[in-house]
Amino acid sequence: MAIEHNIYIHVPFCISKCNYCAFFSRADIAPDWESYTVGICDEIDYWADKLGRINVPTIFFGGGTPSLIPVSVFNKIINHISEKFNILPNCEITLESNPGTINEQKLDDFIACGMNRLSVGVQSLNDDTLKFMGRRHDVQTALNLLDIAKKKNIKLNADFIYGLPNQTTDDVIQMCKRINTLGLHHVSMYELTIEPTTPFGKMNLNMPSNNTMADMYIAIGETLNLNRYEVSNYAAPNHTCRHNENIWDGGAYIGLGVGAAGRPYFDNKWYEQTGGEIKLTPIDTKTRATEKILTGLRTTRGVLLSDDVVDIISMDFVKQNPYLININNDRLSLTDKGMLVLDSLLLELVK
Ligand SMILES: C[S@@+](CC[C@H](N)C(=O)[O-])C[C@H]1O[C@@H](n2cnc3c(N)ncnc32)[C@H](O)[C@@H]1O
Ligand code: SF4
Repeated sequence: MAIEHNIYIHVPFCISKCNYCAFFSRADIAPDWESYTVGICDEIDYWADKLGRINVPTIFFGGGTPSLIPVSVFNKIINHISEKFNILPNCEITLESNPGTINEQKLDDFIACGMNRLSVGVQSLNDDTLKFMGRRHDVQTALNLLDIAKKKNIKLNADFIYGLPNQTTDDVIQMCKRINTLGLHHVSMYELTIEPTTPFGKMNLNMPSNNTMADMYIAIGETLNLNRYEVSNYAAPNHTCRHNENIWDGGAYIGLGVGAAGRPYFDNKWYEQTGGEIKLTPIDTKTRATEKILTGLRTTRGVLLSDDVVDIISMDFVKQNPYLININNDRLSLTDKGMLVLDSLLLELVK
């Protein structure tokens, strides 16, 4: 019997590209949704042959701009998944959205088809900053979408980016204070990564120093009225993103759509799934355990101390560094200090 798999579905289209973004998507105002749907359904059939009738605890439409999907396409994909797999009764179905691409009617239609978690790309609460980032929406459009979504019986997230050129820690604190007034139960706060292939990557930007970035990270944790449960994610109790939590915890998942990655498990083996064309490479227990440690330690609950994880961790290092690392019950997690030096710490921790 195959184990349960989470499903990630990539939607590689945006109306236009933002100045900072290197995610796999292309600007296309009229994508060929018919061939997109056929491609996704063919991939579902491929996985059904490999995995059998697996249970599906979460489905995540990520992008790109999934809110551009016509509702009929969304419906066809969900129906096809439920023909081939068991969508569990409490399955979390997330859709990423851009303000300005979804109105109340479309939101209601997605909800009627099973969507129960909306992620809104707000990015900034300053109109000039949004323009500089190459966003198509203004602050009011984003706030209107959040207001509409808050009235529905769904989970809701807003994405923000901090660490922008010329931004100060005080600017970030003021932004967090404003976010606190929005009544959100989940917020993602991403530190800006400068990607060389993007317009930002080609500009000579005055970026905050590493020390300022660390101050911003600490200030966000202290100011937001939500709990940090992963390096970039904050939630009220019971409002965490189950899809991401399952994956960070080492759960199996498949990726549908060009460019989607996965970690499927079948025939008693873990595989690395990379796409374009689906390509599967077996990965050994140690590699998979290392991945679990990398993602698990970014979460506050930490990595589960399963046998494969215990086998590759230096317990001497854990014992010698109680101010960086905690062990509670069956999990190993990092202290706030440990989180700030995560990358160098991993080199010592993993044997
Ligand atoms: C896959 S994107 C899709 C979301 C949606 N298309 C939008 O832009 O609103 C998910 C999130 O990644 C974040 N992101 C994208 N590029 C980034 C970068 N270079 N640095 C930091 N965060 C980034 C943005 O906050 C964005 O909302
Ligand atoms: S941030 Fe979102 S809307 Fe902008 S290019 Fe990236 S995926 Fe598209």
